[in-house]
Amino acid sequence: MTVKIGLLGLGTVGTGTVEILQEPQGRSPLLKAIEIKAVGVRSLDKPRQVNLPPEVLTTDLETIVTDPDIAIVVELMGGLEPARSLILQAIAHKKHIVTANKAVIARYGPEIYEAANQHGVYVLLEAAVGGGIPIIKPLKQSLGGNRIESIVGILNGTTNYILSRMTSEGADFDEVLTAAQQLGYAEADPSADVDGLDAADKIAILASLGFGGRVKREDVACEGIRSVSAVDIAYADRLGFVIKLLAIADGNAGENSEALQLRVHPTLIAKAHPLASVNGVYNGVLVTGDPLGQVMFYGRGAGAGPTASAVVSDVINIVGIITSSDENPALDPLLSCTHQHYCQV
Ligand code: HSE
Repeated sequence: MTVKIGLLGLGTVGTGTVEILQEPQGRSPLLKAIEIKAVGVRSLDKPRQVNLPPEVLTTDLETIVTDPDIAIVVELMGGLEPARSLILQAIAHKKHIVTANKAVIARYGPEIYEAANQHGVYVLLEAAVGGGIPIIKPLKQSLGGNRIESIVGILNGTTNYILSRMTSEGADFDEVLTAAQQLGYAEADPSADVDGLDAADKIAILASLGFGGRVKREDVACEGIRSVSAVDIAYADRLGFVIKLLAIADGNAGENSEALQLRVHPTLIAKAHPLASVNGVYNGVLVTGDPLGQVMFYGRGAGAGPTASAVVSDVINIVGIITSSDENPALDPLLSCTHQHYCQV
């Protein structure tokens, strides 16, 4: 059985995704069942780093989300609109969704999951937080027996790359930002990285999963790294600290045990702290739960390959389910955000 997929977007992550799909050797056998039927792009004239038959590329994104042959729509456009509308349209046409779009999920997750429940499709978003780090599925499933107490993460690769190079080389902020853009880490508008907005989207999503309540994106207090200077970093170093942009969801905040505090800001952390050694484009997420205690997730948090790794893995998970049969059942029926118990946002 072949599963046809449609991609919306062929930028950094879209290109990385196509590269993996075109090289199935040594990867999941399910990759061989996947056919890229269409890829939605802004311009047909732009030179591409991947070879795709010209008829696969289209600027008419609606034909992808309404195509009856396409089973899975992979949304890699970023931004709020038209991404949100296209996702909803695809769901209404009974397509499963894989998305890396943290901005849309952080704001419109409930609307999207409700539509997905209504139409019986999966919405998977492993690539939306932490790049290649598996964090969404572990938080929804593998840690389900825990009462989550806090989630503390370095969730933006660009700012961590900038702060790390400012720390290790005394490098200049603007020069390092340009390097991060060239390496494909930064958002199209890097102020989303530098001002902490991207990390705020991501902690809103993790908090929704971990704390099972309705977390509003606007409830995340947010301060970026523009005001962090080389002098701040040097003084922090002398005192035994490093400066990291932390995204924090603290379920133990305040006297009210129900209170959940959500914030993103530059933070002094002791050099011995596990997150202090998360450097460069790497992300780290420290989850504290009862009875587990602390568990840390670590890996490359941005860039084509790591993010595409999460995208393709989500696609494979859906392909595994929709190609399964009674004789060959899917291994993972609790996969999706359509299961409200795991994903009450
Ligand atoms: N701009 C993001 C980052 C990309 O730097 O982490 C991954 O979400």
